[in-house]
Amino acid sequence: MTRRGFFYRIWKWLAVIAGLEIAGISIAFIFTGKRKEQKSDQLKVLARIEDIPPGTVFPYRIGQLYLVRLKNGGFMALSLKCTHLGCSIRWYDDSQKFICPCHASEFDMRGNVNKPPAPRALDIYKVVVEDGLIKVDLGKRIKRTKFEKSQVTFA
Ligand code: FES
Repeated sequence: MTRRGFFYRIWKWLAVIAGLEIAGISIAFIFTGKRKEQKSDQLKVLARIEDIPPGTVFPYRIGQLYLVRLKNGGFMALSLKCTHLGCSIRWYDDSQKFICPCHASEFDMRGNVNKPPAPRALDIYKVVVEDGLIKVDLGKRIKRTKFEKSQVTFA
């Protein structure tokens, strides 16, 4: 092998190693960057605990949900889409129920069906309470048939 051929091979291998390192760093950056971005984008701070008294319901139209604090102090995030055909439900404070304007389905404060045609309870979002803040994971709407105690988050 000539001296020139020897150096050519060394440069070739160095270029391959550098290429692999750049590819590895790029892949790691893409995946970790994307995960962090999803996490921060999906988990939204909606309120401070002390701003939501027990027994109240607040609409968050941007998130397409209602933040509910049950009378026992637990939090739920209910989708505002009716489970019949997807119309936006409305909360009526005086009667303490959600009513759908399209076909008059009614739901209680926990999202259970009080009056059909809605076939099942309102969808929910996961609620996280951290550092005195109520956060909701907007990334995943959870379907359910009826209310269960495990769906409530306590501070
Ligand atoms: S869409 Fe709500 S009752 Fe039909």
